[in-house]
Amino acid sequence: MNARLNDPDAPFGDSHGPLLTGAFAPVFEELVLDALPVDGEIPADLNGVYLRNGPNPRLEPNGNYHPFDGDGMIHAAHFDRGRVTYRNKWVRTDAMLEETRAGASPFWGIMGTLKGRSDRRLKDTANTDVIAHGGQAVASWYMAGTPYVIDPITLETVRKADYIRAPGNGFSAHPKVDEHTGELCYFDYGHEHPYMWYGVVDATGTLVHHVPVELPGARLPHDMAITEHYSILHDLPLFNDEEAYRAGRHKIRFDSRLPARFGVIPRRGQPSAIRWFEFSPCFLYHVVNAWEEGDEVVMVACRYMPARTPDGRIDDTRTAHMIAHLMMDARLWRYRMNLKTGATHEECLNAGHNVEFPSYDSRRTGRRTRWAYLVDHDPDMLRWTGVRKFDTDSGECTGAWSDGHAHCWYSEPWFAPADNPRSEDHGYVVSFVWNARERTQQLQVFDALQISRGPLARVHLPQRVPAGFHACWVKPGQIRARRD
Ligand SMILES: [Fe+2]
Repeated sequence: MNARLNDPDAPFGDSHGPLLTGAFAPVFEELVLDALPVDGEIPADLNGVYLRNGPNPRLEPNGNYHPFDGDGMIHAAHFDRGRVTYRNKWVRTDAMLEETRAGASPFWGIMGTLKGRSDRRLKDTANTDVIAHGGQAVASWYMAGTPYVIDPITLETVRKADYIRAPGNGFSAHPKVDEHTGELCYFDYGHEHPYMWYGVVDATGTLVHHVPVELPGARLPHDMAITEHYSILHDLPLFNDEEAYRAGRHKIRFDSRLPARFGVIPRRGQPSAIRWFEFSPCFLYHVVNAWEEGDEVVMVACRYMPARTPDGRIDDTRTAHMIAHLMMDARLWRYRMNLKTGATHEECLNAGHNVEFPSYDSRRTGRRTRWAYLVDHDPDMLRWTGVRKFDTDSGECTGAWSDGHAHCWYSEPWFAPADNPRSEDHGYVVSFVWNARERTQQLQVFDALQISRGPLARVHLPQRVPAGFHACWVKPGQIRARRD
């Protein structure tokens, strides 16, 4: 076994909680590896880059650790005509460079108390998502931080994104890119009125639209959606506990007396044009996709199922606790909003599977999609135990695979279209898989048409890919030609 796979399970000791040990433990070598051993065959018509972001603290953190605190590290699998190259590299955020100069972390994590301590600052780690935009990749952070532009091949940090000159903090972890127009739509949120901002960046990286979005109060939204002509913004009943916030602590509250609201705004619309639609109270991490059908806007998402008391009422306290501790109970859900009549409809698409971290054919972001690829979520912790394909028209699960739900850690999978796809789901699904029992790290490639047959190719990696957050698939046409 390669020595790197036996790296310590707790390089900073075990005093920072379980989210810095075992499969979450960081790695410290930045590698470029090709000629890797492969079981099976890498398809020749699989071309592009799978990028996955996640926390990987370089220095020992101060105090309690939360995964949003760890320095962002991108892990990449670059597929090129039947070959694959693996790379991993930290995102060189301002905070990480400052830490490196200091030799120790001057920052405190989101679980720490910040109030009244001028020496304590939160670290923007750019560790949450990575997307393709403007010929490059962009890394983003959960708490609406600074987006960093990354070279999708070399993983070098190119610069902070130019468009953060806009008012506000930066943008949330999950902007959406319309691959038909090249536009990136994002939201930003904060604790001060109006609490949310919405913006559009064009394909050249120029901010072309930025408007305030007034919410009833400070919220903790996580995702948004776009259709061909609209963006969908989320006002969900999850927010900071005000008392804790004033004391400088990060504690969240869920209030099921408030509805979930989705605001539909024209792509470059003014705040006065937003139409709000109300649904049953819930939190919602991730949207699968959204699109227009006649007068309706349709959004398919993973709805976080509020915890219930024994007599069936929503348990706000337990719901907030579960969300804060990254425990997951989510179901595929479809929302319909009629722009002409104002009518709404929501329905569970599949009650049988706790699934999250969705992917689909991103060329169709904002356009109707049928197929989605998600992970089975361990209900008790941030662990994904297998991949699963759904028909979001019917809600039916049409394929699934795991090397072992009890001991495997899958990454967020992404759908990679074949070079000349004959259908929406003609292509591949790619994921990193850490097998904690065998202590093996693989990169797995599935035939998206036949997930249940298991991986077409298993690429063996000599270093663990720590459990992380979001991924994307970057197609060759989305990579700006480099000057070298
Ligand atoms: Fe997310």
